[in-house]
Amino acid sequence: MRDINQFSVTQAVKDSFKTVPGSRFEQLLHGMIQHLHDFTREHNVTHQEWMATLNFLYDCGQISTPERHEFILLSDVLGWSALVDMINTKGGATEGSNLGPFYLDDAPAQPLGTDLAHDRDGVSVLVHGRVTDSLRNPLPGAIVDTWQADGAGTYPIQEQAKGQDKYDLRGKFTCDDQARYYYTTVLPKPYTVPYDGPVGDLLRAGNRHAWRTAHLHYIVRAPGMTSITTEIFFDNTDYIDNDAVFGVRRSLIVKPKPAKDIEALGFALERKPDAVIEFDFVLAPEG
Ligand code: BEZ
Ligand code: FE
Repeated sequence: MRDINQFSVTQAVKDSFKTVPGSRFEQLLHGMIQHLHDFTREHNVTHQEWMATLNFLYDCGQISTPERHEFILLSDVLGWSALVDMINTKGGATEGSNLGPFYLDDAPAQPLGTDLAHDRDGVSVLVHGRVTDSLRNPLPGAIVDTWQADGAGTYPIQEQAKGQDKYDLRGKFTCDDQARYYYTTVLPKPYTVPYDGPVGDLLRAGNRHAWRTAHLHYIVRAPGMTSITTEIFFDNTDYIDNDAVFGVRRSLIVKPKPAKDIEALGFALERKPDAVIEFDFVLAPEG
C-alpha cells in the first residue's frame, strides 16, 4: 500500500498523470503541483482559507461572460499578465504590455492621416512614428492597429447603449513606403478596471485602487516579424507610477509636445492637432 503523507502526496499526484516524460506539458503540470503543495505546506493553509480561495475562483467564473473575463482581470491585477508580457518580449523589440478587454480584431482599416476622434472633446494629438526591425530597417506596409479610451476615459464600445459606435477611436493603419504611420486622435484619460466583481473585492481587501493610467493600445504586425501587443503611456500623468495592472514600462512613456512646425513632416491630416507624440515600434523576426 502506498504511504500517502503530507510530503509524499506531491510526487504521488505528479505520477498519477501519464504525461510524456520531459514534455513541456509535464514540466508545467509538475511545476504547478509542486508550487501549490509547497505553498500549502509553507503557510499551513486552513480548510477555511482553502474554501475561501475556491469560492473566490467560483465567483470569478460566475461573473465571467464572453465580454467579461474575470480571470484575465485577476491575472492583470496580480501582475501575472505583465510578467508574461515582460518575459516574452523579444530582445531589441518594443516592450509588450496589456491587451486589455477592449480589442476588436475587425476594426476598420483607416487611411493614414485619419482623425480617429471625430468631434470628440479633448486635446487633439498627432501620433506618428515608424515601424522598423531592430537594426532600424524600415518595414513598409506594417500594420499599426490601435484602440483607446476617449478624453473622458471611456471606450466607445462601453457606451453602445448611449448610441456610440463600437468601432470609434480605433483603426488599422498601413505604414507608407518609409514605414511611417500617422493619425490624429484625442489624448485619452485614465479609467478604472471593472471593480464590481470578485477582483474588485480583492482590490478593496488590499486597499488598492482600480485606476489604469491613460494609454493608447497597439498591436503592430509585419510579414516575417513577431507581432507586438503594447501600449503607450504619458509622462507625468495620474497613476503612471501605480497603474492597477502594472502595464507601464519606462520605454513606453512619451511626452506630448506642442504641435509646432508639423507641416515639415509632410503629412496630409484630417484635423489640425494641438500636440504631437512620436513613437517608433521595433519588431523582432519571427521564430
Ligand atoms: C485596458 O487597458 O483596457 C484594461 C486592461 C486590463 C483590465 C481592464 C482594462
Ligand atoms: Fe485600455
